[in-house]
Amino acid sequence: MKVIAGVAFKGGVGKTTVLSNLSISFIEIGLKVGIIDLDPQSSVSSWGEVRESEEPMISDAKAKTLGKFIEAGRNLGLDLMLIDTPPSASIEAHEAIIAADYVLIPCRPGYYDLKAVTTTTNSSRIAGKPYGVVFNAVPPRGERGDQAIIAVRDELRAAGVTVLDVLIHQRSIFSSSATTGSTAVEQEPAGKAAAEIRSLRDEIVKQANIQTSTRSSKRKVA
Ligand SMILES: Nc1ncnc2c1ncn2[C@@H]1O[C@H](COP(=O)(O)OP(=O)(O)OP(=O)(O)O)[C@@H](O)[C@H]1O
Ligand SMILES: [Mg+2]
Repeated sequence: MKVIAGVAFKGGVGKTTVLSNLSISFIEIGLKVGIIDLDPQSSVSSWGEVRESEEPMISDAKAKTLGKFIEAGRNLGLDLMLIDTPPSASIEAHEAIIAADYVLIPCRPGYYDLKAVTTTTNSSRIAGKPYGVVFNAVPPRGERGDQAIIAVRDELRAAGVTVLDVLIHQRSIFSSSATTGSTAVEQEPAGKAAAEIRSLRDEIVKQANIQTSTRSSKRKVA
């Protein structure tokens, strides 16, 4: 079982949105997925409560019980455990980094967000954990707008920060789907938002070396 922590010391960058959508995209390729909610705001747990599907399995945990929940996921035969964390350099966020095989760091492409992102990437680096920054909620301003973000991405890369290729754009389906315990991936499986999440998933599969061939073929979430 691989453990992926969604961490950003900055709030509102899309940790919960990206992780919940990603969980469904991993289930789509046949993986058994759990989510541990380490955020006292319980966002992902609230999302799970209104979901119609039993999957992914969601557990509300505290920093000191994280290890037990990860062990339980392993014993249940899960392939992947995602951890959602609070929006600060909290004990929870640090414990999640320590427990993770891979740290996913969502970042909005704004000035202050970019300034702040290296505090999270440095924590992952110091802990010896591979990580990837993903630009989320990129304003949909067409090719030119994306080129500007790609230039920022290249600057960060030149400074030694690992930034993933995919850009997740600002799309209303990400917020509207969450209100019914769903995701963009389930509500508009052929949409652009779902395609971006699947590209993110495929990058993470490679970077975190996630085995995808052990399970049966693609399936829909029940
Ligand atoms: N790509 C996106 N497109 C549109 N809305 C988005 C996107 N990503 C996130 N949002 C919206 O931005 C807000 C913050 O997102 P979310 O709660 O996922 O961030 P977070 O990092 O988990 O926040 P917190 O730090 O409070 O836990 C939510 O209202 C969510 O619906
Ligand atoms: Mg959150």
